[in-house]
Amino acid sequence: MRVTLSVIKADVGSIGGHTRPSERMLHAVREMLQSACSAKGLLIDGLVTFTGDDIALIMSHTHGVGAPAVHRFAWECFLAATEVARQQGLYGAGQDLLVDAPSGNIRGAGPAVAEIEFERDPQSQDRPAEAFLIFAADKCSPGAYNYPLYAAFCDPMHNGGLLLNPKMHRGFTFTIIDMDAKDRDRIIRLDVPERIWDVATLLQNPDRFAVEAIHSRYKPDEQIVAVSATRLHNIAGRYTGKDDPVAIVRTQGIFPAPEEIVEPFLLGHFVAGDARGSHVMPIMPVPINTPVTGPFCLPIVSCLAFSMDAEGRFAEECVDMFGGPVWDQTRLKVQAKADEWRRQGFIGPTMASHTELAYTGIVETLQALEREFITRE
Ligand code: 13P
Ligand code: MG
Ligand code: MG
Repeated sequence: MRVTLSVIKADVGSIGGHTRPSERMLHAVREMLQSACSAKGLLIDGLVTFTGDDIALIMSHTHGVGAPAVHRFAWECFLAATEVARQQGLYGAGQDLLVDAPSGNIRGAGPAVAEIEFERDPQSQDRPAEAFLIFAADKCSPGAYNYPLYAAFCDPMHNGGLLLNPKMHRGFTFTIIDMDAKDRDRIIRLDVPERIWDVATLLQNPDRFAVEAIHSRYKPDEQIVAVSATRLHNIAGRYTGKDDPVAIVRTQGIFPAPEEIVEPFLLGHFVAGDARGSHVMPIMPVPINTPVTGPFCLPIVSCLAFSMDAEGRFAEECVDMFGGPVWDQTRLKVQAKADEWRRQGFIGPTMASHTELAYTGIVETLQALEREFITRE
């Protein structure tokens, strides 16, 4: 059967600042999801999680990518959670719902959307089992996945599987999106390893270019990765919160293994985001359902591993990939790295680039100061 995985995430309110959604908000969404998964419902299966202040809906169904009914359902879930957030007086109620009533597909309306459709066939030679990872990141932009995806799919120093598995050795096709393009999507497709340095040249600038998809070259119909690569500030025209991207990565068999995909997160790489979306800070892998509570509003990322049965069900049990003690050392290292880096305060590279800051209030001060400048003869 053809199954679609849809991961749709939004920040529609949080307790005491940009920390986490409330239990009542989550309860409202879980109730809606449960009835959507009941007999003859819209969905096959689903799970509701949070990462920082963002609620993620992880859903399987048979309606395909961009299905209006599924997107409308997600939007209604976020509206219901917004209503609870309003009643509770929470911060940023409805923050990511940038349009009034989207017609159908909600990509570009605020929430982060990542989807993949594939054939779920237990008799299939290449994928008798379906395993996948769901990443959800808070306080950062979609370019946050550039480094880990490049490392895992292009660099055998990070992923020895590229040498060991002949089906992966055939390489991959990267779809990279230009997130600055406003009216229509602008994308480029590049095959690796042949075009590896061209991929690197684009991914170097994660403010503008992000990996949107990766396909197998051994089985070109098989999409391995989907990332929600849209920028809220391009949609809203001003700073409204960070994009806080989600990603689906299918794993095992002809694709990289989960351990190969999560390895690059050991680095705690620097990403744009953090407080007011206006800094450059290292990203910390955290357990699922972790609130943001520390200094700075450090970027965080969660990762769940799933298996899917022949009917598209997956949510009975999953594994929290960043939950275990192996990541404790990374977490401490990332916090130490952040503390050291931010001793520099606001000067230069600790804050985001001026292209990013152009969507913040710093612009007004700079414009006012412009008038006070004098040209010396
Ligand atoms: P969110 O995008 O997660 O709402 O964070 C916004 C922010 O400015 C945090 O300081
Ligand atoms: Mg928020
Ligand atoms: Mg958020």
